Amino acid sequence: MSPSLIQEVTKIRRHLHQHPELGYEETGTAQLIHEQLTQLGIEHKTEVGKTGVVAFIPATGEPSKTIALRADMDALPIHEETNLPYASQTPGKMHACGHDGHTAILLGTAKLLTETPHRKNNVLLLFQPAEEGGAGGKALVDAGALRGEVVGTPADIIFGLHGHPDHRIGHVSTRPGAIMASAAQFRVIIKGKGAHAAYPHNGIDPIVIGSHIVTALQTVASRNVDPLDSVVVTIGQFLAGVAHNVIPEKAELNGTLRTLNMATEQIAVKAIESIVANTALAFGGEATITWTSNPYPVTFNDPDATDTFRRIATEAIGTDNVHHEPHPSMGGEDFSYYGYEIPACFFFLGLLPHGADSYPNLHAPNFDFNDDALETGIQLMTELALTA
Ligand code: NI
Repeated sequence: MSPSLIQEVTKIRRHLHQHPELGYEETGTAQLIHEQLTQLGIEHKTEVGKTGVVAFIPATGEPSKTIALRADMDALPIHEETNLPYASQTPGKMHACGHDGHTAILLGTAKLLTETPHRKNNVLLLFQPAEEGGAGGKALVDAGALRGEVVGTPADIIFGLHGHPDHRIGHVSTRPGAIMASAAQFRVIIKGKGAHAAYPHNGIDPIVIGSHIVTALQTVASRNVDPLDSVVVTIGQFLAGVAHNVIPEKAELNGTLRTLNMATEQIAVKAIESIVANTALAFGGEATITWTSNPYPVTFNDPDATDTFRRIATEAIGTDNVHHEPHPSMGGEDFSYYGYEIPACFFFLGLLPHGADSYPNLHAPNFDFNDDALETGIQLMTELALTA
């Protein structure tokens, strides 16, 4: 790969890093993608699934297949603390999940593909919005991006990647079957009765009720789900009260549920709803639970698509650099939606520098996508497009 291509993609990646945009607000990012694709003479449509971009690169002869490649574009509401010269210029927003890197890799792939004289496959490029909770992947599926209804032809198979801080630069890993968990979000509103803190018997304390609910929810993993199966119930937000000496009227809990199969999810949902409602009742209060729309399903790698990935990746970067991911991650991914339409393979791209012991975590304020991973990302995406 030419050093000038890497330089160019690095520049794009850093520009995106400086200008992070949250889910469904990626208009500047989409504009940059539009300009790049226009320069390359690639057919594309903008405003797909609100702020997404879908592009089509036809095969040079009679097409064998249509390969879809996906990148996500959105940033997170986190204040950047990297002190990098190209750090976020928008206070409170940053590319803390490396989606700037994913988008830059797909643009580099587009460029490399247009420079390739013989292409046996059609290629669909999906630049999707709102991976961080907004289900942008579903928005693109619903828009018909995989069915060739936006541009191009129906996709036969799809590949996507995510930067991974635990894997070395130049290395990739994946696994057949479940690779990322389902992720459902819920909100609990506890209604009690306000009172003076000194006279608790005159009120119903929603903070005490909430505390019991948080504690009882720990038994979903320990007592409701098979110990050999996986489930996570985390309350990340407990909102209540205005002063140290006032028992408030209500409290709010916000949490997430993660599982690796839908049957377990159903067991956990039932247990959570029962604990929430009945714990509140037991203390004389009331609680309601709402599940936010678009819970992400399990990201499931098709075994044949995963074999295809392993074969192509092994040829491209060598057996020693292609790893089997031993366990699924309990993180969520809306790449999952594509896998319910067509065979899909999601893989991890190493970000950990050689010689380093650790790398900042995803969603941390000191995270930055490692530019040294761009080349392997572009190389693999291009090979998948050309030879899958
Ligand atoms: Ni991400």
